[in-house]
Amino acid sequence: MSDLENHFGDDASLTEADNKNILDFLVQNSAEKSTQEASVYMLDSIGDNNIIAMTQTTFWKHQHENIPKTLFKHDKIKSKANCKACHSDVEKGLIEDDKIKNIRSFM
Ligand code: HEC
Repeated sequence: MSDLENHFGDDASLTEADNKNILDFLVQNSAEKSTQEASVYMLDSIGDNNIIAMTQTTFWKHQHENIPKTLFKHDKIKSKANCKACHSDVEKGLIEDDKIKNIRSFM
């Protein structure tokens, strides 16, 4: 949030007020404040490593190791970061097993 001019190759800079609102939201809803099982595993997996994306954690990689790499390029997925394509409840802060789409539906 402190260098949004250089956000993964895009200029995502915001007004000071918008930046503060989003930063407050992120801090309030961070894994450190969550009791969800996945949040605990995610934090453990980050440890002291300099990781800037969930998809770089060993926890995430392990959970998704059986998914063919090419599937993340599918038209309806496009990127590993598009969690919602496969986890339909992720916008509620949840990743429940029964809400994970069957990846065969993309094949
Ligand atoms: C291509 C579809 C796909 C995408 C995109 C995807 N996931 Fe998943 N994810 C899965 C599948 C399928 C599983 C279940 C794997 C298994 O059980 O073998 C899973 C498992 C998980 C789990 C473990 C759930 C549990 O209770 O066992 C977490 C946490 C998770 N994903 C987080 C994420 C996050 C965060 C993102 C985005 C950064 C993401 N996933 C992107 C398909 C996806």
